[in-house]
Amino acid sequence: MSNAIVLIESLTGNTWKAGEKIAANLRQSGWGVSSVCSVRKPDLHALETADLVLLGSWTDGIFVAAQRPGGAGHLWGMPSIAGKKAAAFCTYALNPGNVPAKMSGVLESKGATVLGGLALHRKKLDQHAEEYVSRLLGNLATA
Ligand SMILES: Cc1cc2nc3c(=O)[nH]c(=O)nc-3n(C[C@H](O)[C@H](O)[C@H](O)COP(=O)(O)O)c2cc1C
Repeated sequence: MSNAIVLIESLTGNTWKAGEKIAANLRQSGWGVSSVCSVRKPDLHALETADLVLLGSWTDGIFVAAQRPGGAGHLWGMPSIAGKKAAAFCTYALNPGNVPAKMSGVLESKGATVLGGLALHRKKLDQHAEEYVSRLLGNLATA
């Protein structure tokens, strides 16, 4: 069984909810998800043994401009994940800008092979979590 970990940075809980829903969708598809945990204090054993690392955060900015990943300093503080596959996601309210791409940049700099990212609208977490996982599994199949 393939194993994933979900690392989260969240201010008001939406990104946690998104991470839990993504984990549930992955488990339904036969994946093990050993931990959904804060990127500030990752479960290091789960991280070590994960084949796939998912990194989630929220969209910070002035709603339609200047978007950047929330808690960027904490994202950059995550450990190296050299040799692992990884993908980013963010939650947003109005317009995520290019936050998923910026987060993918963090994952690349940590040594991962990045499988693409997606923004999940905070009011459509169920639907978007399902879409995210189905795209992710599609990308994994061709990676
Ligand atoms: C200070 C601040 C700035 C935000 N800026 C944006 C923004 O530029 N664009 C956007 O779509 N959402 C923006 N949001 C909304 C959040 O990204 C959204 O509510 C997100 O789901 C919060 O995730 P969390 O509950 O995990 O903290 C902002 C929220 C806050 C608190």
